[in-house]
Amino acid sequence: MAKHVVAPASELSPGERLVTEVNGRKIVIFNLGGEFFGLFNRCPHQGGDLCAGRTTGLVEAGDEPGSYRYSRRGEILRCPWHGWEFDIRTGKSRCEPDRIRVRSYPVEVRQGADLFDGPYVAETVPVTVEEDYLVVEA
Ligand code: FES
Repeated sequence: MAKHVVAPASELSPGERLVTEVNGRKIVIFNLGGEFFGLFNRCPHQGGDLCAGRTTGLVEAGDEPGSYRYSRRGEILRCPWHGWEFDIRTGKSRCEPDRIRVRSYPVEVRQGADLFDGPYVAETVPVTVEEDYLVVEA
């Protein structure tokens, strides 16, 4: 898979998402506390736009009967059409994680200066890049 520069990393704050299009595929990129994850923007159920879904967390049983704990705040994405839920980190569904999943795409942050390296050398002019950029592999 080729790598595609999407946007400066500074444009996507923790808790935010952005939609990009790579080779005709819409991919939604999430910033979870400084970690970046990409998901295909199409729900595997009936095609809802996952970028419009709300994020939530997990409610898990506590140590005693009647107690519970809330974890992974903001890491579970709920499809806006019928409410299917997906783990943003893996794309796996909450209902059938081994069978139903959203395609996920690796996202990395690369320094702008690294993106200019290549096998060819030409006449150069000094250029400085001061920001980091999001790069999605699709
Ligand atoms: S289209 Fe996403 S839950 Fe139905």
